[in-house]
Formats: sequence, structure tokens, C-alpha cells
Amino acid sequence: MANRLIPSPPKDKIWGKLTGHALSLSKNRLEYMMSLLNNYGDFVELKMGQQTTYLLTNPEGVDYVLRKNAKNFSKETPGFKLVSDVTGKGVFTESGKSWLEKRKKVNPFFSPKNKIHWLPHIIETANELIDDLNRSSNKSVNICPLMTRSTLQILGRTIFNEDLGKFGDIFEKELNNLIHLTEEKITQIIPIPTPKKVRQRKSFEKSMSILDGIILDMINRAKERPSEPDKNMIHTFLEHATDETTEKYLIDQIKTMAFAGHETSSNVLSWSMYLILNNPEWHNKIKAEIDSVIGPNELSVDNLNLFPNLTMALKESMRLYPPAWSLGRKAESDDEILGHKVKQGDIFIISPYLTQHNSAVFTNPDDFSPERFSEENEVKIPSGAYIPFGIGPRSCIGEGLAMMEIIGIIVKLFQNFEMELDKKVKVEINQKLTLQAKNGINVFFKRKNKKD
Ligand code: HEM
Repeated sequence: MANRLIPSPPKDKIWGKLTGHALSLSKNRLEYMMSLLNNYGDFVELKMGQQTTYLLTNPEGVDYVLRKNAKNFSKETPGFKLVSDVTGKGVFTESGKSWLEKRKKVNPFFSPKNKIHWLPHIIETANELIDDLNRSSNKSVNICPLMTRSTLQILGRTIFNEDLGKFGDIFEKELNNLIHLTEEKITQIIPIPTPKKVRQRKSFEKSMSILDGIILDMINRAKERPSEPDKNMIHTFLEHATDETTEKYLIDQIKTMAFAGHETSSNVLSWSMYLILNNPEWHNKIKAEIDSVIGPNELSVDNLNLFPNLTMALKESMRLYPPAWSLGRKAESDDEILGHKVKQGDIFIISPYLTQHNSAVFTNPDDFSPERFSEENEVKIPSGAYIPFGIGPRSCIGEGLAMMEIIGIIVKLFQNFEMELDKKVKVEINQKLTLQAKNGINVFFKRKNKKD
């Protein structure tokens, strides 16, 4: 079959021969990528320097790379290399055998039967959040940092049986600094050392050393406790220890979970609250649903599944604002995608954000329409078109925990407060490693009367 030609936009205006499209992409990645989808379609060829890179948003192509022929597409990409500078060799960034060995070890930990262990931690953390918000009654509160703190607490409690709050805000601060510096590095195209880069490298090394120290303490404490592999992932790894299970290995696995598992969930919480509170019809529907299903009663593993309207709204929120909005893959051998021959070493940018905003797949893609995820509509969405948790063998291992904590926290907030969006604060996307809200998302919380 003839090789299908793939469109390619003009290279960068100034350094194009050297940089290809890299400068355009680094300036405002999301906007540039969106313009490529709108002007050149869902399979576009770019150059990052001399590196052939495809922006692939076509659902069939996405499905092929992430699922059907996933074994030929590794995570050996420049983006994941930067993430692994923080996480080391963890299940999120590794490929091949090294990935499989780790995924097999952690899979049982995320089994649905462990939901029973997670729920009390979610409730405890939600109650702490409610206490905080009680102190800010009737004030405009930026919910984004509160959600980040809550999801980090839940992660610590559910995965490592640790109260990360006892380190004050150090764990959170150092981890967020590392995430921030990684985001900066992604946009630094030209490899020239500058005083700013030297300062950033020092700050990076300092945060790494503090975080590694805290994690090492956690490991040592876990070693002294009775083994509970269902409740503490450090025990899961210790029970499967081999010669390779060094301190560094354990630190890497913990950092990986902290990196992959808290900002993603907190993003969904913040954006979902924004979308629900900004839409009176769905705000009322969800309020009524929570009142009728659970009223003032406590959450249980069973009643968490009984909120179809809330679940549809969350799925739609993850379509509009997928936290992991850009993923990467590298072709390990020559292949053919949608009739186009690609070469070993070619890089693929796959963007859940772009795919999920493609008007060829989702009509009026910018509208908040949770009905898209009703039982009869959801089955019509083609494979590869809706991928907030990825698909295929590398899909998100924490999806069950994430959905449980997001539903749990939102239900508890609705049970305790009347909420209203502070519309004076303009809500805009800030495209970092995850999709954040530039000016935050501000909400007024009014304590409900007990009998409400
Ligand atoms: C709403 C919240 C979350 C979203 C949207 C999300 C999204 C994703 C996506 C898109 C991937 C696939 C990346 C790729 O294919 O390149 C992924 C992988 C992963 N996620 Fe999540 N995630 C969330 C929550 C979590 C949580 C709570 C944890 C852990 C506690 C977690 C741990 C991981 C890990 C370890 C991987 C790598 C899996 C592998 O490669 O085998 N995530 N996540």
C-alpha cells in the first residue's frame, strides 16, 4: 500500500532549520496543538530539532498506539525522561520488562476488594476539609490548593498508611516544587546553561534530597510495623523483595505514586466543582440526587455507586479538562498507522485534551453536556476518543481509587454546604504538567443547617 502523506505545518519562523517546530510548541503548547488539530487535522507531522514527532489525535490511531499494538510503543520519550528524573525507575515511566515486573507487584494493591480499606481514609480526609471550610464560612475560598492537600492526604493514608500532614506542608511543598521544575524543563528547548537554570537545578536537588529523606523514614517505619500488604504498598514491595529491592528502588516506587496520584485527582475535583456550580441545571440535579440517595447518612462502599448524575458530570469534566492532557510514546520498530509508515524512534504526542475536544467526535465539544455519558450514549463513543485515564496495558492503575475519592469528597461537600461559585474570579486554563486553573477556582461555602 502507498505511504499516506501526513500534513506538516511551516517550521518555526526564526530558528526553524535548527528547532523545527519545537519553539512554537514550547511557547503555548496547548493552544498551538489545538491550532494544529483545527488547521491540519488529527494526524500531523512535526520536527523537534531533527526528531520526527507526530501529533496523533485520531481515535483509531490513538487506539492502535495505546492499546492494539501497545507493545511496539514505549514510554522512552523526552517527556517521560524528565518525569523519571523525579520519580526514578517507577511503574509510571518504565517500559518493557522493568515496567511489567512493577505493574504485576502493584496490581493486587489496587484491586476493588481494597475499597473497604480506602473508604475510612477518604471520609476522615473529607471531614478535615469540611472543618477547614467551616472556618471560612461565607468567604470566597480558592478550592484548588485545598483539593491538592486532600488528595495528597488520601494518597498517604490509603497507600502508605501514613499521615503526610504530620510533616507540615514539607512533603507537599517539595513534591510540588519538583513538579513545577519539571514543567519548566519541558519548555526549555535550547540547551544553554543560564543563571536561572543553575538556580533551578540547585532547588531541584534540594527538594529531591528532602523528599527522599522523608520517604526513607516512611520506609524504615513501615519495616518496623507488622506487614499489611493490602494497606501499605511499602509492605507489598517488601513481600516481593529481590536483590533489586534496594532503598532507592523503594523510594522510586513511592515517589512515583505520589507524583502520579495526587495532582491528577485534585485537578478533577476542582474542575468538576467549577463545572457543576457553574451550571444551575446540573447543580440542582446533583444536589437532589445526593439528598435522595444518602441524605445526611455516611458514605459506604455500596452507596458510592448510586450517583449516576454525579458520575456523568465527572466523566464530562474529565473530557473537558483531562488532568493528564498530553502523553508520549516512542515507536520501538517500524510500523504503519492509518496507512502511514512510521519509523523506529519516531515520537508520538497523544493528547486526551485534543482528542476529547475534536468536533468530529464530540459535537459542540466545548459545552458541558454530561448526557454524553448516559448509558445509551457512552457506548457510542469510539475506542480511543475518550481517554482521561489512558487505555491499554499502560492505563491508569489508580482509576478506582481516584473515582472513589472524587465522588466521596464531592458528596460530603454537598451534604455539608450550600455552595456558590465566586464568578468575580476569572477561570482560565493553565497548561502545566496537569491542567490547572490559572487564578484558582473560588467558591462560597455556607454551612447547611443540620435539618436541611
Ligand atoms: C482522576 C485522577 C487520575 C487521572 C485522570 C489519571 C490519569 C492517568 C493516565 C492518563 C495514565 C496513563 C499515562 C500514559 O498512558 O502515558 C495514568 C497512569 C498511571 N496512573 Fe493515573 N490518573 C489519576 C489518578 C491516579 C491515582 C490516584 C494513582 C495512584 C494512586 C495513579 C497512578 C498511576 C500510575 C502508577 C500510572 C502508570 C500505570 C502504568 O504505566 O502501568 N493515577 N494515569
